[in-house]
Amino acid sequence: MITTGSVAEIQAIISKFKAEDKTVGFVPTMGALHQGHLSLVAEAKKRADIIVCSIYVNPTQFNNPDDLEKYPRNIESDKDLLDQNGCDVLFLPSDQVMYAGKNTINFDFGKLDKVMEGKFRPNHFSGVALIVSKLFNIVLPNFAFFGQKDLQQLTIIKKLVGELFFNLEIVTVPIKREPHGLAMSSRNERLSKQEREEAKIFFNALTEAKYILTNNQSAEEAKLKVETLFHNHTAQLEYFQIVSDKDLLPKSENYLAADTVLCIAGFVGNVRLIDNIYLFGD
Ligand code: PAF
Repeated sequence: MITTGSVAEIQAIISKFKAEDKTVGFVPTMGALHQGHLSLVAEAKKRADIIVCSIYVNPTQFNNPDDLEKYPRNIESDKDLLDQNGCDVLFLPSDQVMYAGKNTINFDFGKLDKVMEGKFRPNHFSGVALIVSKLFNIVLPNFAFFGQKDLQQLTIIKKLVGELFFNLEIVTVPIKREPHGLAMSSRNERLSKQEREEAKIFFNALTEAKYILTNNQSAEEAKLKVETLFHNHTAQLEYFQIVSDKDLLPKSENYLAADTVLCIAGFVGNVRLIDNIYLFGD
């Protein structure tokens, strides 16, 4: 695996592969890698000749400085994992390279970045769109791979790619879960053993709500069930929403459809977790 933090160097490496007619699959990450990230790499290997990954903890997408500071960083073990799992090129830039001390561009996605996560994490998606645009322009991939766990990020990135004519295909990879259902996330590293147990409530709540909705009970009944589960629990619910994956707007009726997703967010201790589940399918 070639590792570099230089834009000029990675561009030269990728140009060489492209001159040999090789396709490039790109997996952008913030490190603290787990099986979820490795499933993105595995999917990339199925579709592209050369796998490029990036590890960069992007400061502009953190609305909470404490969250940025506490974000897990395991760079040496991450490098080993990527190397063992078939990554060809790792881009590991510094803040100086990515921002040169400035951040002057803001994105506004209308309603898409104001609902759900956007409501609780102001400017988060502007920061995501900015770094992803920079990375796409540097790597110029044919395919880029994102996890379904960050559904709102995925929807916004698809919009970004469509509206700015990025010449690449976004590939969605299903959520990887722990055996008891907890969605894999780098933030899970910050959970104690006891908190990991408590965190099961997010998937349990989604599963119960899905059962209610697919058995023809109302959205209100599903919401009430979720609220009751959290009411008797140490974890805190921030939101539970039934939305369309197209516009992320709430659905209160006609939700028995393929685009319906149940989304949830909240805290276990001081760790914020999100999860989602399609009403039909996984
Ligand atoms: O999903 C993530 O890990 C990050 O938001 C991303 C896409 C790498 C941008 O920093």
